[in-house]
Amino acid sequence: MHNLGILISGRGSNFVAIADAIDAGKIPDTTIAVVISNLADAPGLAAARQRGLNAVAIESRGRKRAEHDQEIIAALRENQVDLVCLAGYMRLLSPGFIQAFPQRILNIHPSLLPAFPGLDAQLQAVEYGVQIAGCTVHFVDEQLDHGVIVLQRALPVLETDDAHTLAARIIEQEHLAYAEAIARVLSGRYQIVGRRFLPKS
Ligand code: GRF
Repeated sequence: MHNLGILISGRGSNFVAIADAIDAGKIPDTTIAVVISNLADAPGLAAARQRGLNAVAIESRGRKRAEHDQEIIAALRENQVDLVCLAGYMRLLSPGFIQAFPQRILNIHPSLLPAFPGLDAQLQAVEYGVQIAGCTVHFVDEQLDHGVIVLQRALPVLETDDAHTLAARIIEQEHLAYAEAIARVLSGRYQIVGRRFLPKS
């Protein structure tokens, strides 16, 4: 059985999509061992409790990053987490956190990386004038929105789009992409060659 640890800061729609995918049998032999929010009032935390999941707040306000991260690592270890999924977790991870889970931390970002890393990716895409947008699930490394790409989903930017309408369509793709990426990683049937995520030969 695989144990997921999901880190959130907000609404948690990606977390809910992952939980639904597990319930629907799309991510086999997997359970959500713990949902952790760095903000106690994150709506996603309430959603996790409603589903009867182990949901904990580890407040980051007023804490040093490395110290806060150590507390999260301890909670993940306590719950025997073997894959960490960042789902709208709005904090950078300290190097110690990344080293504690080598190639075992995933993130989802609402752009086709390497375009538009950082905040407000959908607005960046609209303002840049790209005609294709999308989302990326990637392994987390020490650079922001940079690690090996596991899976991307693309969609057209419409002439009528603003950042809000585009984000609404991207998030639907995120929900599909994250569950599929987790299933692929947990299957273990992949190899990383350079920066490429490829099926195992
Ligand atoms: C998503 O757009 C995700 O790509 C980004 O933060 C947003 C989180 O949304 N990292 P939700 O909290 O999962 O609804």
